Amino acid sequence: MSANRPAAVVVLAAGEGTRMKSATPKVLHEICGRSLVGHVLHSSRALDPEHLVVVVGHERERVAAHLAEVDPGARTAVQHEQNGTGHAVRMALEELAAGGVEPDGTVLVVCGDTPLLTGATLGALAEAHATGGNAVTVLSAEVPDATGYGRIVRDAASGAVTAIVEHKDATDAQRAIREINSGVFAFDARLLAEALGKVRTDNSQGEEYLTDVLGILREAGHRVGATPAEDHREIVGINNRVQLAQARRLLNDRLLEEAMLAGVTVVDPASTWLDVSVSFEPDAVVHPGSQLLGSTHVAAGAEVGPGARLTDTAVGAGAVVSQTVAEGAEIGPSASVGPYTYLRPGTRLSAGVKAGSFVEMKNAEVGEGTKVPHLSYVGDASIGEQSNIGAATVFVNYDGMHKHRTTIGSHCRTGADNMFVAPVTVGDGAYTAAGSVITKDVPPGSLAVARGQQRNIAGWVARKRPGSAAAQAAEQARETEDREG
Ligand code: UD1
Ligand code: CA
Repeated sequence: MSANRPAAVVVLAAGEGTRMKSATPKVLHEICGRSLVGHVLHSSRALDPEHLVVVVGHERERVAAHLAEVDPGARTAVQHEQNGTGHAVRMALEELAAGGVEPDGTVLVVCGDTPLLTGATLGALAEAHATGGNAVTVLSAEVPDATGYGRIVRDAASGAVTAIVEHKDATDAQRAIREINSGVFAFDARLLAEALGKVRTDNSQGEEYLTDVLGILREAGHRVGATPAEDHREIVGINNRVQLAQARRLLNDRLLEEAMLAGVTVVDPASTWLDVSVSFEPDAVVHPGSQLLGSTHVAAGAEVGPGARLTDTAVGAGAVVSQTVAEGAEIGPSASVGPYTYLRPGTRLSAGVKAGSFVEMKNAEVGEGTKVPHLSYVGDASIGEQSNIGAATVFVNYDGMHKHRTTIGSHCRTGADNMFVAPVTVGDGAYTAAGSVITKDVPPGSLAVARGQQRNIAGWVARKRPGSAAAQAAEQARETEDREG
C-alpha cells in the first residue's frame, strides 16, 4: 500500500444536505456509531495519506468541531459558497498551498456522504491509477438506477473515457449509460491544479464541476481512466433519510457478517444492530432484538439478548445477559443479568454475580458470586463476595444534597425489603432482618433488626367490622379450630 501512498486526500463536505430536512449538517448524521464523514475519514486513513483536507462550508464551525474530535490530524479548508465540486477541490488545494504544501503525486477526492466506501476500494483505485499511468482515474460503478448521477462517456471505438456528463446536462442517449461517476477520483496532483484553473461554469447549475477536469485533461492529451467498483452499493451517497437507513442496513449487514465469519452466532441478523467499534470473541451468541453499541465487547461463550441494549459494556466469558439495558458496565465471567435489568455507568459485576429481574445498579462493585436477585436498587455501593441481597432492597444513596456510599461485606445475608441508608457499612458475615431500615453500621457476624415490633390486637375485626366477610371468615376459622383443637 505504501507505494500508492497518496500525497493528499480531499474530502468534500461543504454541502448543506437540504434533502435530509435536518438541523444537523448531513455529514454529521450517524450510522453504526460513526458520523458519515467519520466513516469516510476512517477509510481514507487506511491509505495513510500525507495530508488530509476536509472542505467545510455549511455549518462549518459545527463540522470542524466534530472533525477535531474524530480526526485531529485532518485540516479543514473553508468554501464560503458552494460553487461546485471543482471549486471545493480548488479551496482544498489553496488551503494546502497557504500552509506551504504543494502535493506531488496522487490526490484522492472523496465525498463526505459516501460512508460505505472501504479503504480497500480506495486503495484499489490508487493502484489502478498508478499502474495505468493516468492523469486522472475515476471510480465508476454500474448502478441499477443512474438517475441523478454523472455518466461516464467512453469512446465507441477504443472504450477510453472521454468525459463525465452530469445528469442535468446529459442528452437522452447519454442518460441511457449505466456506468456512473461515484464522485471518487485519483488525480495527478500537478495536473489537477492546472486543470482546475480551466474549469468553467457554463452548465445548467452555473457551478465549477470537478468532473469537467476529465475532459480538460483528455483534450490536453493525458490518460484518463475509469475503474469500476466491485460492489456498486459501496459508492452509494446519502442524500435523504431513506438512503441513510439503507446505508445503515448495509453497513450493519457487513459488520454482522464479519462477526459471524469470526465465530459469533447471530440468531437473527435482521433485528441485531452493531456499532463499528463493537468486538466479540468466538462462540459469543447474540439473540434477537439486540443493539450492541459503542465499545461493547462480548467475550467467548457469552449470550446477550434477546432484547439487550448494551453501550460501552464488557460482557465476560460465559455470562448471560438477557433483556437488559446497560451502559458503561462491566459484567464478569459467568455472571447472570436479567431479565429486565438496568446497569448504569460504574457498575462492575465480578465473576458469577447475579443481577436479577427489576434490578437497577449504578456505580456499584459487586464481588464474586454475590446475588441481587429481585426488585432492587443498588446505587453507590460496594458489596463483597458470596453475599445475598434480599428482594426489594434499596440502597438509599441520596440525602437530597449529596450521594453517599454503602459497603456490604462478604458472606452477608440481608433480609428482604431492606433500606441501607448511606453512608453505612455492614460487616462480613452479618445478617439483617427483613423489613429493616439500616441506618447504623452493622458489625461483622451480627444480626441487625431495625423495624417496629409486631402487635396483634385480638378480636379487632369482630368488634370494628361486624358482619363483614372478614369477620365471618374469622369466625369460621375460630369454629374449625375449636372443633379440631
Ligand atoms: C456529484 C458528481 C456526479 C456524481 C455524484 C456521485 C459533480 C459535478 N457531480 O454529483 O458526477 O455522479 O456526485 O454522488 O461533481 N460539495 C462541496 N461543495 C460544493 C458542491 C458540493 O463541498 O460546492 C460536496 C457536497 O457536500 C457533497 C459532494 O461535494 O459531499 C458532492 O456534491 P453533490 O452536490 O451531492 O453532487 P451531486 O449532484 O451528487
Ligand atoms: Ca450527492
